[in-house]
Amino acid sequence: MRRHENLYYVLDKPDISDAEYDALMRSLKELEQAHPEFQSADSPTSRVGGAPRDGFIKVRHSSSMLSLDNALDEGELREFDRRVREGLAGFTYRYVAELKMDGLSMATRYHDGKLELALTRGDGSEGEEVTANARTIRSAPLRVEGRSTDFEVRGEVVMPNLAFQKLNAEREATALPRYANPRNSAAGSLRVLDPSVTAARKLDYYTYYLLENGEPFFESHWESLDELHRLGFKVNDARRLCHNVDQLLEFCKHWEERRESLPYEIDGVVVKVDSLTQQRQLGYTSKAPRWAIAFKYPARQAETVVEKIEVQVGRTGTLTPVAHLRAVEVSGVMVSRATLHNEDEIERLGVAVGDTVLLERSGDVIPKVLRVTAQALPRELFRMPTECPVCGGVVARAEGEVARRCINTNCPARLKESILHFAARSVMDIDGVGESLVNQLVTAGLVKNIADLYELTGAQLAGLERMAEKSAAKIIANIDRSRHHPLPRLLNGLGIPFVGERTGQILADTFGPLQVIAELTAEELQKADEVGPKVAAAVAGFFAEQHNHDLIDRLRKAGLNFDHQKKETAPEGTLVGLNFVLTGTLPNLSREEAKKQIEDAGGKVVGSVSKKTSFVVAGEEAGSKLDKARELSVSVVDEAGMLDLIKHGKIKD
Ligand code: IVH
Repeated sequence: MRRHENLYYVLDKPDISDAEYDALMRSLKELEQAHPEFQSADSPTSRVGGAPRDGFIKVRHSSSMLSLDNALDEGELREFDRRVREGLAGFTYRYVAELKMDGLSMATRYHDGKLELALTRGDGSEGEEVTANARTIRSAPLRVEGRSTDFEVRGEVVMPNLAFQKLNAEREATALPRYANPRNSAAGSLRVLDPSVTAARKLDYYTYYLLENGEPFFESHWESLDELHRLGFKVNDARRLCHNVDQLLEFCKHWEERRESLPYEIDGVVVKVDSLTQQRQLGYTSKAPRWAIAFKYPARQAETVVEKIEVQVGRTGTLTPVAHLRAVEVSGVMVSRATLHNEDEIERLGVAVGDTVLLERSGDVIPKVLRVTAQALPRELFRMPTECPVCGGVVARAEGEVARRCINTNCPARLKESILHFAARSVMDIDGVGESLVNQLVTAGLVKNIADLYELTGAQLAGLERMAEKSAAKIIANIDRSRHHPLPRLLNGLGIPFVGERTGQILADTFGPLQVIAELTAEELQKADEVGPKVAAAVAGFFAEQHNHDLIDRLRKAGLNFDHQKKETAPEGTLVGLNFVLTGTLPNLSREEAKKQIEDAGGKVVGSVSKKTSFVVAGEEAGSKLDKARELSVSVVDEAGMLDLIKHGKIKD
């Protein structure tokens, strides 16, 4: 499993299919359940995140995590090279050029080959302890073979562009604010108190530093990168050993031109003197090493004019202002629109039609408007409308929310968007129900909510513009087929605020059939993982409305799949999978108290000793059960040992 983990997540070269990998993972889980004595903390099954915490602990770094000075152009890089040459007084030297990944740096410490501690950079001398979160990053090895001494690795945690775009699309669909760029979302995903959030985000860990006691120990940095790779860490392949500044500049230029083709964001190239002896000779300034520099690429920005600001109404009624721009190229991509997000953002920008604005693109095709650079005169600041631009209905902004919403549930814009969302590929996957059909269906009054879709006839569709009988029949068949989709998709399709694919899955896994979910109070809903007060209130509020009740009823009658197998909730605690036999009189606890403590920690208490017994807890005057334990070589602990087990999952040595 470790080998496959490395092949897939680190080297990007799996040699088995995803299905085979999943099957291996399942059988490993089963084996561990049957033989908990062999389950270890660094098992590939343990990358799921642990319990949420109250706050971060600060831990001192083994040596400062410094930042680098920047070189902004060729001249500044040549200047850096000149200083290095002078500092090394005529000796030859080499550079290592690496891509400067745009994420946040993290240090991970290994003890006995096992990942033991992970820290963010923090202020450089003290970082935040994020071990449980780091353990969920698949490319960060939990166990490393081939190095017996303790060591530390430093590198960059990044979110690949695709994962970033997907995350933002999901957030937008559930009315959460978008992340501005992959770096922010990587930081937001690593620095969370609940590791299961990190686990759900696709983060990557690229390493570039190998240390012992806070110091690098390979004479050549280039070789230390090879060693990291050999140990199973992810090291960027795009690196080069350069013999002079011209080769460095070539590397910088090469990757600047190919920046768009990389699956993650880079903001430049990091240049380091290769020899450790020479690094020491050059030393440090108060802030940064003299032997390294960051060659920064220019931000991908462009200026253009706002031609129009349009307000779109989404399926949950959210009003989104969109700027239509005079088309402009931003690093190879033509841009003619940018979202202005919401009222707060409009206020921050103070933008008017005719203004010139500065755009920036990062990890996404949708650019961000950074600021107004020239004001049109005369100008009228854009203000969010107080009425819905589509139905003219009331627009409200709920407390604590950034969005204004049209509250008219029959607003045609909301209706169209909600049907499009329902039919989308990742939701109910109804091929053929696209923008032009939905427009016609809503305008003709044939569809007033999603349940109406299931009562459409081929003849009704065939009566619409540009609709042949054959395609009408196909669409009806597609609608029919969607009745059997799994419940999480339907939950996503209903358009409950904040409930997307993932939350739909969690609700279905936790509570089962839709009829059950629909009856739960907000308090009960919060028992599900990751469902907080806001989501719970939205779900309960949705089902409390009579017209939604009617809608659900009609969907049930239309034969949609409301059922779902509840996921077996895994028992929790340090003793899960272990069984105990109690014998003799314990010094402090009664038999009943001991039993309760074991059970509370997820363990089982059984009556007689067998080979399957994990531990015998023996007190004063233990009798035949203790003999039996010895005979079968079952581990025996006393009360203190039992309490250690409960507390730490192991006996203190
Ligand atoms: S070396 C003393 N190498 O850029 C050496 N840093 O301003 C310090 N970064 O804080 C870091 N890719 O977060 C190094 N290949 C790379 C890097 C890299 C990204 C980040 C890192 C650091 C910042 C330097």
